[in-house]
Amino acid sequence: MPKPHSGKVKIGIIGAGAVSDYHHVPGIRLDERCCLTAVCDASADLVAKRKGEWNVSLATTNYLEVCQSPDVDAVIIATPNDTHKDIAVAAAKAGKHIMCEKPLGLNATEVAEMYHSARDNDVVHMTAFTYRFAPAMRYIAHLVHSGKLGQIRHFRSQRFLDWPETSWGWRQWKARAGAGDLFDMTIHRLDLGVFLVGPLKKLTGAIARFAPRDKTADGKPCAPSDVDDWSSLIGIFENGATGVWEGTTLAKGYKRKGFGHEWAEINGSEGSVVYQLHTPNTILIGNNEVDLHEEKVPEEFLKPTGSPRSTTQGEPATLFRYDLMWEFVSAICEGRQASPSFHDGLVAQVIADSVLASFEKENWLPIPTVNK
Ligand SMILES: NC(=O)c1ccc[n+]([C@@H]2O[C@H](COP(=O)([O-])OP(=O)(O)OC[C@H]3O[C@@H](n4cnc5c(N)ncnc54)[C@H](O)[C@@H]3O)[C@@H](O)[C@H]2O)c1
Repeated sequence: MPKPHSGKVKIGIIGAGAVSDYHHVPGIRLDERCCLTAVCDASADLVAKRKGEWNVSLATTNYLEVCQSPDVDAVIIATPNDTHKDIAVAAAKAGKHIMCEKPLGLNATEVAEMYHSARDNDVVHMTAFTYRFAPAMRYIAHLVHSGKLGQIRHFRSQRFLDWPETSWGWRQWKARAGAGDLFDMTIHRLDLGVFLVGPLKKLTGAIARFAPRDKTADGKPCAPSDVDDWSSLIGIFENGATGVWEGTTLAKGYKRKGFGHEWAEINGSEGSVVYQLHTPNTILIGNNEVDLHEEKVPEEFLKPTGSPRSTTQGEPATLFRYDLMWEFVSAICEGRQASPSFHDGLVAQVIADSVLASFEKENWLPIPTVNK
């Protein structure tokens, strides 16, 4: 178990692109227990820009400098998926705590190496499964785990986005991303299913690609995509409940300010509950007597205890993302493991890999247990 940290937690960001700018830096800025001390990006231009914008002393294109800096206690890895493993292993060996973006790696073999390295070096390790932090999801987890919904029978997840059919950059190549919609979007929801219902026992999956993505947004030709833009699976959990997941980036008409459509539902013997990303501070709830209707998430589930972020000022579908940093820094200060951990990231990766293998084999596949 990591030792509790005293003093400010000094954080280095590796990968200074979109998600660091939108989620991680605002999360660090809100939390007085931590500060940003280092930035690394493969692009020297972006490093120079972020050095000024983010006001950090160490700015470099070499992630090893961040991993080895005495002015860094913890790193955030927010680079393309094919680079996560080497960076995480270097950080763990240098004794740095790690929050790594999802998917943790290109496949479960890589992710197991990351998990074992972080575990064996006694550092805090966290997978950035953002949607666990949505207030509605926190409340639904309480309702499920406290037995209020009775025996859980069905989990259902839909993630529909209306994205342009032009290039996704590194995300559209298997060598850099591992898979498309499945590893980018559905993997979050695989984690939600296991988080709410428990381990998955077996599954059958399917993926498809519709858009060639052989042009950039400004019309320049590029190598076409070789990953899925639609992914789905049916699963049976160890407790007998069923799960059905579907994700697509090609659902025309589902822009909703860029947040798209997300619906995750539990049907238990005593009632049903629904989480929707675009209304994260309410749930739908119903039972035999009362049809599904909207209810506010109670105050105590709106954010983790102590989180400094506002529950009212700003876009609700964005605000809860800052709670990832709160959890990561809390785990470091308290000397405990973070939740969701790299183990959770590995469990989700094993399931995602099994979706690809099942589709290739046209078969149901058992899901192996992932030891702690
Ligand atoms: N949790 C979430 O909700 C969420 C949301 C968006 C992205 N992500 C994940 O975050 C990661 C980054 O996504 P993004 O949208 O920010 O991508 P991005 O392309 O905007 O940024 C990635 C950055 O990493 C840099 N980079 C590439 N190789 C590097 C290396 N070896 N060392 C240092 N920097 C390097 C690139 O130059 C780029 O600036 C991905 O794994 C993605 O799946 C997660």
